Amino acid sequence: MSDNRREFLKKSALLGLGSIAGSLLGETKINALNTVETNLLGTEPAFTLPPLPYAYDALEPFIDKQTMEIHHDKHHKAYIDKLNGADNNILKLTVSDEQKCKMVSADTPALVRNNLGGHFNHSLFWQLLKPNPTQAPNLPASKLAEAVNQQYKSFDDFKREFSDKALKIFGSGWCWLIIDETKKLRITTTANQDNPLMQVAADKGQIVLALDVWEHAYYLKYQNKRADYINNWWNIVNWQKAEELFSAK
Ligand SMILES: [Fe+2]
Repeated sequence: MSDNRREFLKKSALLGLGSIAGSLLGETKINALNTVETNLLGTEPAFTLPPLPYAYDALEPFIDKQTMEIHHDKHHKAYIDKLNGADNNILKLTVSDEQKCKMVSADTPALVRNNLGGHFNHSLFWQLLKPNPTQAPNLPASKLAEAVNQQYKSFDDFKREFSDKALKIFGSGWCWLIIDETKKLRITTTANQDNPLMQVAADKGQIVLALDVWEHAYYLKYQNKRADYINNWWNIVNWQKAEELFSAK
């Protein structure tokens, strides 16, 4: 609903209720009007599906159009719908989704942990993919490249270690490059939809790079060949976004 439409309906509702609410005082009056406004206008869902920042086929030939349609419109949407159906204090806070993830502990209900992670991880993953790939080598630049070379000897060594860890994730999960709590780069993995922001993560830190290795991310094109998917993913890493995340530390 547009802001203008919302405001119009709100004013109409309030005018119509003037004679009833006029006899009420102070907080009682405000509460009564708020209740009526909510009932008349409904409430906006707390979570909304962010649009994919490029066309579904923009990652071809490395990730196909149909995979992107299903991955974004069905899987990511399902996390959003489940979050909006959940009743949990973390979800009600007016803080960023990143801050909400940082509050996820072993005591957090699985419904919240899985779907908040699912929403946050995918929102970031879409941004960390670069549309319209070219033939040019896709390499990190600037400060992140320096840090990678310093810590892993070379980009190829880093790439090998990251790919190997992503390949070895048992079942569904994510592979990450993070800045850990000692301010060093670290490659780490999480199961299901957990992420390194959460208190439940073995390695916690600020996310720089994310790779979704759930089968839904690649199965239509690659079937069981996760190694091929990972190998091709390097062609569409959005290093500019990774640099931004790295520099925000
Ligand atoms: Fe996914």
